[in-house]
Order: sequence, then C-alpha cells, then structure tokens
Amino acid sequence: MKALIVCVSVSHGNTWKVADAMGRVLDASVVAPEDVDPGELAGYDLVGIGSGIFRMAFHPRLRDFVQGLPRREEERPDAFVFSTSGLPEAPFRPYTRPLVRVLEEKGFPVVGAFSCRAWDTWAPFKPVGGIRKGRPDEDDLAEARLFARGVRARFGSAT
Ligand SMILES: Cc1cc2nc3c(=O)[nH]c(=O)nc-3n(C[C@H](O)[C@H](O)[C@H](O)COP(=O)(O)O)c2cc1C
Repeated sequence: MKALIVCVSVSHGNTWKVADAMGRVLDASVVAPEDVDPGELAGYDLVGIGSGIFRMAFHPRLRDFVQGLPRREEERPDAFVFSTSGLPEAPFRPYTRPLVRVLEEKGFPVVGAFSCRAWDTWAPFKPVGGIRKGRPDEDDLAEARLFARGVRARFGSAT
C-alpha cells in the first residue's frame, strides 16, 4: 500500500505532528501541497489531506490544492482528511464536510476523517497565551496512529 500525506501546518506545527504520526504508521511521506504534482497522485493507493483550521475552514492553501486536483480517473487513490483546531467543529459551520464534498465531486472516495484539539493562539485567545497548550499531546498522537492503522487495515495490512 503506497500512501502520501499532504499537509499545511503554518501556525505551530500542530498538524504536522499529527501528519508525521500517521505517516510513520502508513509509511508515507508528509509533504506540502506545493511539493505535489497532482498528476502523480494516481500512483498512490491512499492520500491524506490535512491542515489546521483557520476561521472555521481548512487552510486556503490546502483548499486550493484540493480544488485544483484533476478528476480521479483511475481506481486510486482513496483519500482521508485530518485537521487540528483549538475548538471542536461547530455544528452551524462544519469544516470537514465541505472539503470532503469537493474530494467526492472529484471522484476520490473519502475513507475517513480525523480531528484533534491543538494549541490555539488565535486572536481571541492570544491575551491568555492561547488554549490547549501542549496539544496535540501523546494521547492525541496515539489516537492519530490508531486512526491511521484503521485506514491501513482497509488495504489488508492490519499489523
Ligand atoms: C488566524 C487563526 C485562525 C484560527 N481559527 C480557528 C477556528 O476558526 N477554529 C478553531 O477551532 N481554531 C482556530 N485556530 C486555531 C488553529 O486551528 C490551531 O492552532 C491549529 O492547530 C493550527 O494548526 P498548525 O499549527 O498545524 O498550523 C485559528 C488559529 C489562527 C492563528
């Protein structure tokens, strides 16, 4: 199973830590969107796509990357999405579903989504030093690895 993880992590490197933990399980490189040739994705079985959440949406660089993907024409890759954020997804403004929808419209089956809390120094929280300091922590990264193992198991290598 050949996997690639595409990640934008600009604030504290929070999402990169999660991507790195997943990448080790999936034996996948973690790369920025600008370092991926979308045409080469068909050479992978699985692609993970993630960033921090900024003003209730995935980072614009990641959204642009997904918008710019060609329609999937081969049987692969499948996709999963992941994010880190200070707060859980707001029911009135979900951020996972819109990105998943674009991927699905482009023909990528989305086989899972992962999210965890992370250090957040967005303006409202800056005066108090931010919230969720120290996260993602070991427990969060263990959850990320567990998620990655679950995704990997779909490809028949569940060890
Ligand atoms: C400008 C800005 C906007 C943010 N907006 C949100 C938000 O809408 N909801 C949320 O839960 N966290 C928000 N955050 C917190 C980030 O999602 C969080 O710190 C994330 O882990 C950053 O990931 P990164 O370090 O990988 O870039 C925001 C942070 C910044 C700096």
